[in-house]
Amino acid sequence: MDIIHSVTDLRERLQREPNNVFVPTMGNLHRGHIELINIAKPRAACTVVSIFVNRLQFGPREDFDKYPRTLTADCEKLRAAGVDVVFAPDEGEIYPEPQTYTVEPPDIQHMLDGAVRPGHFRGVATVVLKLFNMVRPHSAIFGKKDYQQCLVLNNMVRQLALPIDIILAETVRAQDGLALSSRNSYLTPEERKEAPRLYAMLCKARDELSAGAHDYQRVELDVMADLAHHGWKPDYIAVRRQADLLPPENGEGKLVVLAAARLGRTRLIDNIEVERE
Ligand code: PAF
Repeated sequence: MDIIHSVTDLRERLQREPNNVFVPTMGNLHRGHIELINIAKPRAACTVVSIFVNRLQFGPREDFDKYPRTLTADCEKLRAAGVDVVFAPDEGEIYPEPQTYTVEPPDIQHMLDGAVRPGHFRGVATVVLKLFNMVRPHSAIFGKKDYQQCLVLNNMVRQLALPIDIILAETVRAQDGLALSSRNSYLTPEERKEAPRLYAMLCKARDELSAGAHDYQRVELDVMADLAHHGWKPDYIAVRRQADLLPPENGEGKLVVLAAARLGRTRLIDNIEVERE
């Protein structure tokens, strides 16, 4: 496995193996990331994983400084998973000064997580486009836990005609249902015990919607109230259309319930898809 820090070295390495599939990450890897790699590996001769904590997608009061950076341990996991190339660039490789160009996603960037984290999806789209240009993969894998991110990036690839297949992977969960996330490491032992409630409430909402509930606002408010009652501070609970995350009309078949809530100092996000006849 090659560990590469500069764009020049990356291009040189990938010239020898242009048939590559890409898994972008911010490091601090867990089983969810390894699952993305398992999906990637059979698709190409060369699996490339990037590790870059992208300042541009963090707000000024968010956790950029304390985001866990564990490159040595990450590389061990990636080697064991059979990855061929790790790209761990310095900030200057991704953002040559002055950093002037950004990718401005359409309105979807301002709703839900984008409303709570202004500029977040501009930061994600900008870094992912740059990474795509550096790695030039034919396919890239993203986890559905970041549902809105998946839509923003799918849209970007379509609109900018990038020759890249975006492959979406199901969320990987702990046995008690908590979606795996690097930020779970911020939870205290007490909070960790409480954290599975988020997914449990999403499952309850899904069951109600599958059984025909049409009062979306009531479904959202019930989840919100239960979480608040147990000490959470929800940012949003939203029943939306899978295709564009807009509020659904009655009779809409493909829904997704998205949630973001704070438990102590940790912000957790999750979602669940709902298919109705
Ligand atoms: O999902 C993530 O880890 C990040 O948003 C990504 C796609 C690596 C961009 O920084």
